[in-house]
Amino acid sequence: MPINVLGIETSCDETSAAVISDNKILSNIIANQEVHQKYGGVVPELASRAHQKNIIPVVERALIEANVDKKKLDAIAYTRGPGLLGSLLVGSSFAKSISLSLNIPLIEVNHMQAHLLVNFIENNNEYKPAFPFIGVNISGGHTQIILCKNYFEMEIIGETLDDSIGEAFDKCGKVLGLNYPAGSKIDRLAKNGNNKKFKFSKPKVRGLDFSFSGLKTNFKRFIEKKVLENKKFIEKEKENICASIQEIIVKILLEKIIKAIDKTNTKTIVFGGGVSANSRIRESFKKELKNCKLFFPKIEYTTDNAAMIALVGYLKYKEKNFTDYDVDSKARYKI
Ligand code: KG4
Ligand code: ZN
Repeated sequence: MPINVLGIETSCDETSAAVISDNKILSNIIANQEVHQKYGGVVPELASRAHQKNIIPVVERALIEANVDKKKLDAIAYTRGPGLLGSLLVGSSFAKSISLSLNIPLIEVNHMQAHLLVNFIENNNEYKPAFPFIGVNISGGHTQIILCKNYFEMEIIGETLDDSIGEAFDKCGKVLGLNYPAGSKIDRLAKNGNNKKFKFSKPKVRGLDFSFSGLKTNFKRFIEKKVLENKKFIEKEKENICASIQEIIVKILLEKIIKAIDKTNTKTIVFGGGVSANSRIRESFKKELKNCKLFFPKIEYTTDNAAMIALVGYLKYKEKNFTDYDVDSKARYKI
């Protein structure tokens, strides 16, 4: 009999539920929260209220789409952290109550581990990554290089000292008047731009760590100066600006991953997180790292989703790694 796990994800501004049967995803429902757009970023209080409103219909849809009756579920997996505490609490309370009412095990999941392990979903790629590998978690909240020894033994070997790579995209996009989150819009506009038109300098950060806040400030100053010279600068050069700023961000990431490959002597690289949807990252890495095995999630598994939570739930279920009801949610939860 296959193992059926319901996954619940509410760490930030997406309410998501998914059903997995062994490691095959049967449904993955994601309700986005439009309410944050006009604020240019996620408003925590509004996020937890929206999760409360969305969670029941989202879970119901996930079960219907998967065609799995709740009585056929073997476990409930949920995001314990990291994330916004109020949002995490909505998911964890809901997961605990279903687990209690159906009398099936509860399984807590680390959101950052899940972003990488999503690459093990049956319907993601034909081949699965082999351990050990270098995990590259790039999202709106995190920028981490992780040495992954097995499913649950992961060591952070590099991370950002300030802004995340996703924030670099989002904040530069904001300067250009693009709505939050701006990453995918920059990606799209950059396709028709010249990535060599404008030059931005790379920050100097030692080892495998990153820093993006200086780049963001340079970018803002550069645009402000150009707009003073010509009011129509952004309008006229938008595609070239997007291509140029995206290119420097991709180069910063590529340089650090090449260093990580040298340092760890590991040639399998596994990506996760919203920014791993970026088409230029995928293209450049494939071109520059031909001697490495690269694994990218399908686009629907890059941004926050419950499929990745359900997958980790399935992996933990097989190890009988269950969670007590008094386990608390963690806004900061180390991998
Ligand atoms: O993983 P995610 O959904 O949420 C967090 O856990 O943070 O990542 C969201 C981030 C945002 O910063 C968004 O702008 C970025 O992922 N993003 C992209 C692309 N699609 C989403 N950044 C660059 N290129 C994209 N195509
Ligand atoms: Zn995430």
